[in-house]
Amino acid sequence: MPRLLIVHHTPSPFCQAMFEAVVSGATDPEIEGVEVVRRPALSVSPTDMLDADGYLLGSPANLGYISGALKHAFDVCYYPILDATRGRPFGLYLHGNEGTEGAERAVGSITTGLGWVKAADYVVVSGKPTKEQLAACWELGATVAVMLMG
Ligand SMILES: Cc1cc2nc3c(=O)[nH]c(=O)nc-3n(C[C@H](O)[C@H](O)[C@H](O)COP(=O)(O)O)c2cc1C
Repeated sequence: MPRLLIVHHTPSPFCQAMFEAVVSGATDPEIEGVEVVRRPALSVSPTDMLDADGYLLGSPANLGYISGALKHAFDVCYYPILDATRGRPFGLYLHGNEGTEGAERAVGSITTGLGWVKAADYVVVSGKPTKEQLAACWELGATVAVMLMG
């Protein structure tokens, strides 16, 4: 069964709300035949990455970059999965309060290096997520999951 891996760093209630909305979209009952696996970014392994067919990345913006946790995930996994995951779709949601451009740029560089394919617009939220922004998170999760349906 195709597998969607959600790699996330979730340090606050606003990030948690976005994470839950993404999971809810990805696991919608109408999307059949896709296994959704969640891994905190500090615990994800190269094997988790290799075993997935698509990815959802979630992080706060920290110090002008992605969180140290998501950076750690790619520090650990980048070379072990390089050339083995090319062409796979990914989505990204970010939460930040002071500018997320550096984090967006970082994910763009990393995923370009890996050859991953951006499956949908990034969902970027500042402050308390609105209903519409949580709906966009839901849509993001559902979009990447649907792409993996057989
Ligand atoms: C050390 C630190 C650095 C941060 N740097 C940024 C940043 O560069 N850009 C940004 O948009 N938000 C930044 N933030 C805000 C976090 O993204 C924010 O705390 C996180 O998304 C959780 O949101 P919340 O604190 O409103 O719940 C930073 C927060 C911390 C603790």
